[in-house]
Amino acid sequence: MPISISKIINMTTSEDVTIEKLAEVVLMDQTLTSRVLRLANSVMYARRQKTGTVTEAVIRLGSSQLRNLAASASVLDAVFPKKSFPGFDWKEMWNHSVTCAVASQCAYSTITGAIRNTDESAFIAGLLHDVGKMVIAYALPMKFAEIVAKCCADDWDMNMSEKKFLATDHATVGAKLATEWQLPEKLQIGINYHHNPEAAPEEIEIARAVCAGNLLAKRLSKCYIFGQNWDVSLDQVGEAAQLSKPDVARVVSDTREGLMRCSEIISWGDNLPVPKKMAA
Ligand SMILES: [Fe+2]
Ligand SMILES: [Fe+2]
Repeated sequence: MPISISKIINMTTSEDVTIEKLAEVVLMDQTLTSRVLRLANSVMYARRQKTGTVTEAVIRLGSSQLRNLAASASVLDAVFPKKSFPGFDWKEMWNHSVTCAVASQCAYSTITGAIRNTDESAFIAGLLHDVGKMVIAYALPMKFAEIVAKCCADDWDMNMSEKKFLATDHATVGAKLATEWQLPEKLQIGINYHHNPEAAPEEIEIARAVCAGNLLAKRLSKCYIFGQNWDVSLDQVGEAAQLSKPDVARVVSDTREGLMRCSEIISWGDNLPVPKKMAA
């Protein structure tokens, strides 16, 4: 991961960061600078005057939004495979990841009763929950193609197929990457236990939030594996998050609202490799 991005994630997780320090780090990274300016001038933040300075853009976005942006940029620029794989749609996976990020954050706020925007760890954990798939595709493209082919042919899920071909899975690989990147332990746990939150040794709330966010994202988005269909009930979401029906309904409506705020980040998916259809 580019140093500037890991710096921003760590700086914005600490309390005593100043806008000037943040702007200084953003300016060191060209891609991040252009994205920060683009987002600050996007519809959500548009004021009468456009901003051309990074300091002003950082003030507009706030540190939590900046952290989300840094994490999103890190996924795209550091590990995103530049090629497409038959049967696998990266753009839909990007949609899935951003939707999971928003849903995990909403679930986390409801689970912990925390005020939104004070701690956005669940957003980043949700965004990165499936990053292990990108690592596998990037590092072992042939194996990844086999894993996807098995999922398409026999309607297996990625976990099962990864275990068969690699004797590990994307949650474990993703958590190892988060450790390498020196992301906070809370994020490592959110990524590692997004399929089995109750096994988390600590920080179980974030594991439950990301698990519920992943299920809700599956319910709301299209599938990124060709030919597969996801059928997730709200009861399953509630069970994962250990939330009541009315709380789940609130998470769903908060997620829909949150997705509108993330439209700029979602649009980055337009630059991803074009999916190839499976041969009949
Ligand atoms: Fe997953
Ligand atoms: Fe997922």
